[in-house]
Amino acid sequence: MSGEGEWIRMVTARTPTNIAVVKYWGKRDENLILPINDSISMTLDPDHLSTTTTVSVSPSFDSDRMWLNGKEISLSGDRFQNCLRELRSQASDFEDSEKGIKIEKKDWEKLHFHIASYNNFPTAAGLASSAAGFACLVFALANLMNVKANQSHLSAIARQGSGSACRSLFGGFVKWIMGKDSDGGDSVAVQLADENHWSDLVIIVAVVSAHQKETSSTSGMRETVETSALLQHREKVVVPKRIIEMEKAIEARDFASFAKLTCADSNQFHAVCLDTTPPIFYMNNTSHRIISCIEKWNKAEGAPQVAYTFDAGPNAVMVARDRKTAALLLQRMLYYFPPQSESDLDSYVVGDKSILKDAGIVGISDIEVLPVPSEVKDRVPPPPRSKGEVSYFICTRIGRGPVLLTEDAQALLDPNTGLPK
Ligand code: DP6
Repeated sequence: MSGEGEWIRMVTARTPTNIAVVKYWGKRDENLILPINDSISMTLDPDHLSTTTTVSVSPSFDSDRMWLNGKEISLSGDRFQNCLRELRSQASDFEDSEKGIKIEKKDWEKLHFHIASYNNFPTAAGLASSAAGFACLVFALANLMNVKANQSHLSAIARQGSGSACRSLFGGFVKWIMGKDSDGGDSVAVQLADENHWSDLVIIVAVVSAHQKETSSTSGMRETVETSALLQHREKVVVPKRIIEMEKAIEARDFASFAKLTCADSNQFHAVCLDTTPPIFYMNNTSHRIISCIEKWNKAEGAPQVAYTFDAGPNAVMVARDRKTAALLLQRMLYYFPPQSESDLDSYVVGDKSILKDAGIVGISDIEVLPVPSEVKDRVPPPPRSKGEVSYFICTRIGRGPVLLTEDAQALLDPNTGLPK
């Protein structure tokens, strides 16, 4: 190492979050994080849901430190240490003669890191923040440490931080192949189609107000593996067939099949949670109301207009077949779940606000006069409109994979001190 103590090398990256349309639920190896079935996800637009991470290294750092959304957190967990061990073993020499930096492969064993990470969406909202977080950490560190590996190879490292993180290494539609090897070398993510393949789709996330604390995915899936007989049927019979059908639906942009498979898989995932002892309830009454609204609408139209899927929490991720349908979906959502007051509207529908305009909504008065959705207009009494059940909506789309951010202003750490800006 030359110029000891005088330099700080820094890399900043941004990585999207993803939502599974065929779910990963259950591990065959807890330490290496190897799943019992393949899964498929959509990557969400990083402009609306992503993690930005700056990683830095310097001979002057005397311990590994990390700040998440400005607050220092511990890095002693096995998952972080497993990722770091893998990255260190695959790191290469690095030299920047202009800055007087020379790092040899063996130096990475003793060098320490400062890491700062920031989510552009609420971390506690149950929106797969650990997937984007670990993917970003691994992608940024691999660049910092000059790891010469392709994206699938990096996905196998990110997988050891959090299973679903491996799918955030790519944009578009992504498959996590479960693999067979006991060392997990073949349990990697691959891209099925990029973010431009099916650009008609519009995604609306309903962040549902959660009052009770949820069971974490990690412990929830462990309990399901230990106690659910239905999971064995899902793993052996249902998912292998569903993966093939889902790949075909995505390739052909066949929305009817895509929607049918996505909804069925979400519902079966929640069924195996209910089949767990003790049962796990991730969805709440609001989630159930959203499902019922979409099912009724799809039935009335005679063909699916919108698909829904729910992860380990009550938030709904809805996929509309095109922009016109997305505007009709937003009208329905705002009919059933209006904001608390006028001043709330701007923070009630976030992300791509042009969908709100397409829906003809500029102020709270437009929401008040929304007609009863046609499929339920004859119901007596009319369906209730409940304020406060949804915290807010995010309008987004399918997005691209990780990118490096090269502007100094985008770094989260001070280049002189290596501490958060
Ligand atoms: C319901 O990836 O969070 O979101 O591997 O233990 O970190 P660990 O679990 P995690 O589980 C995600 C489960 C899911 C479905 C999915 O993303 O496929």
